[in-house]
Amino acid sequence: MIDREKFVEMAKVNIAHVQAGGTASQAPGVFRVPASHYLDPERWDAEMARIFKRVPLMLALSGELREPGDYKAMTVMEVPVLLTRGADGEIRAFMNSCSHRGSMIVEEGLGHAKRISCPYHNWTYNSEGDLVGLTDRREFGQVDTSCLGLTPLPVAVRAGLVFVVLSPGAYLDIDEFLQGYERVLEHFDFASWELKWRQEIPGPNWKVAYDGYLDFYHLPFLHKNTFGTDISNKALYSTWGPHQRVQRPDPKLLELLDKSEADWSLDMMDGGVWTIFPHISFAGDHSGGMFSQLFPGPTWDRSVTVQSWFVPTNEVEITRRSNLVPDGTENGSAQQQAFMRHVVEDEDYYTGLRLQKALAAGAKTEVLFGRNEGGGHMFHSWVERCLTDDAPFSRPVEVDYETPQAAGRAGA
Ligand SMILES: [Fe+2]
Repeated sequence: MIDREKFVEMAKVNIAHVQAGGTASQAPGVFRVPASHYLDPERWDAEMARIFKRVPLMLALSGELREPGDYKAMTVMEVPVLLTRGADGEIRAFMNSCSHRGSMIVEEGLGHAKRISCPYHNWTYNSEGDLVGLTDRREFGQVDTSCLGLTPLPVAVRAGLVFVVLSPGAYLDIDEFLQGYERVLEHFDFASWELKWRQEIPGPNWKVAYDGYLDFYHLPFLHKNTFGTDISNKALYSTWGPHQRVQRPDPKLLELLDKSEADWSLDMMDGGVWTIFPHISFAGDHSGGMFSQLFPGPTWDRSVTVQSWFVPTNEVEITRRSNLVPDGTENGSAQQQAFMRHVVEDEDYYTGLRLQKALAAGAKTEVLFGRNEGGGHMFHSWVERCLTDDAPFSRPVEVDYETPQAAGRAGA
């Protein structure tokens, strides 16, 4: 069930900010992050072990694996992952590694095969991960093939998104992790979306990079040549556990006030940046948009971002409300892809690499996130929580935003 109430609540907060003159969310105070949190290789190792190898990572849209036999192979944090959709329709995750001598079986990318064979000695597996073919079996000798399937990884699918934990046998409680976020994400029907293009962009430390996705404050300055100087730099944050939606005050929402709440269209209220902790950003709305998956490494000071543009299938006439891209022309796809590479690589990550260099040189001992940058407060608080708490998602991190209505109320 889509959480319509939450959409309405967020729209009301947005309208209050519009009516107050287009103000930003106000977190309780200015937040400080020690520069060492970005720079310390030991801390980075701990982030890899306690976040990226322990937290469910959104690795695919289920629409990338639409038919039984579809698969997606990727190397994530040095872990070779194989996602499959079995004959039974279930999506599974495995280590992409043969039970014979460990060879990687499938090349990275999307594909379709009812059976996949290891290139080394042709051991063959089905889409459910069972070993179904052992070359020269009688000569090989006695082994129990029922125990020689692919090594499974914990996997869960919610709202058309495929979540995987990169450690075999690890704990996965997807509902505790998502905190009801899936009930707003379901609105998008991501299961029916298809990939338009995909590219990889090298960048700085994953947190330096991710800070930028939660940050509208920089938009008219750093992106003046791409998004323009008129773009609003005000951000409104909504949270579900560690996951955050960022939107800007949207004057168009005032049109909703002419209608009864029951008639407010979700499609009017769904734009912005929807993040999934610890490394996903979806920028767009119901008509399509860009998923960014930030993968740290191979060292503390580097990351790779996989940018993927998805659109709803069968969406012939797409109304592009998103302000993030120039309107599609005949050749819109290639143009859009080049544009997004330019924005992120030449503006965001160029700046991120340079700030990282300055911090590494000892320029500052701490960095600041203003009251208008609450997304950064939340994100860094959750990273800290994951490093120190063995059950990080079992209780909330509180950030109380002052909205224009609440500000006037005594004691609020
Ligand atoms: Fe940016």
